[in-house]
Amino acid sequence: MKMIRLKIDGKLVVAPEGTTILNAALKAGIYIPHLCYMEMKDIGYKNDCASCRICVVQVKGMNRLIPSCSTPIKEGMEVVTNSSEVMHKRRVVLELMLSDHPKDCLICGKNGNCELQKLAISFGIREMRFAGKEGKHDKQHSVSITRDITKCIMCRRCETMCGEIQTCGILTGVDRGFDVIVNTAFNKNLLETNCTMCGQCVAVCPVGALYETDNTFRLVEDLMNPKKKVIVQVAPAVRVA
Ligand code: FES
Repeated sequence: MKMIRLKIDGKLVVAPEGTTILNAALKAGIYIPHLCYMEMKDIGYKNDCASCRICVVQVKGMNRLIPSCSTPIKEGMEVVTNSSEVMHKRRVVLELMLSDHPKDCLICGKNGNCELQKLAISFGIREMRFAGKEGKHDKQHSVSITRDITKCIMCRRCETMCGEIQTCGILTGVDRGFDVIVNTAFNKNLLETNCTMCGQCVAVCPVGALYETDNTFRLVEDLMNPKKKVIVQVAPAVRVA
């Protein structure tokens, strides 16, 4: 296997030909944030659609930033992952992503376990500079999977997992612009499709667009909804003789 030598943030890195800049950097202990990228080495599949652009880096001799997750390394390449320009562009990309994302982290099924939330914290984002058009999609509950597609960031990890790895092909990208999401055909509930409820889409979703159905969360959501009348039954106290 041919080995390639390059420099990342001034550090000499040697990696096999065909490796992406992102993987070469991660292997060398240099962290580049990434959202849409997903790799399952044991079965040889990866999602490198490069849709989120959080992983952009600078390469000497190129007059634009490039996504590190889909760019293979080249001999003698000089990569910069943390210049002020790179950090600024990443931050703007993140702010745009958050602009049309619901701001209900507190009652989100992925709160505390959301990759977008973690990135926003690491970039110190406390205020929203941009206001995008938030999608309006009702939550869909099924036996084990809840879909909150308003939160979809179009990373397409679930689509790769469902279509290419699990070979079910239930989820796919639909629509354009602010309305673009990964959805089922004709916006059907998963229960009306051939979904096997394997849960692999939930395992790879970086945000709260897909999560395990949790009836506690459903109750909290219903309680917060002024249009819904919720009766909470408390179990009667048991008298201990
Ligand atoms: Fe590279 Fe999303 S991780 S574009």
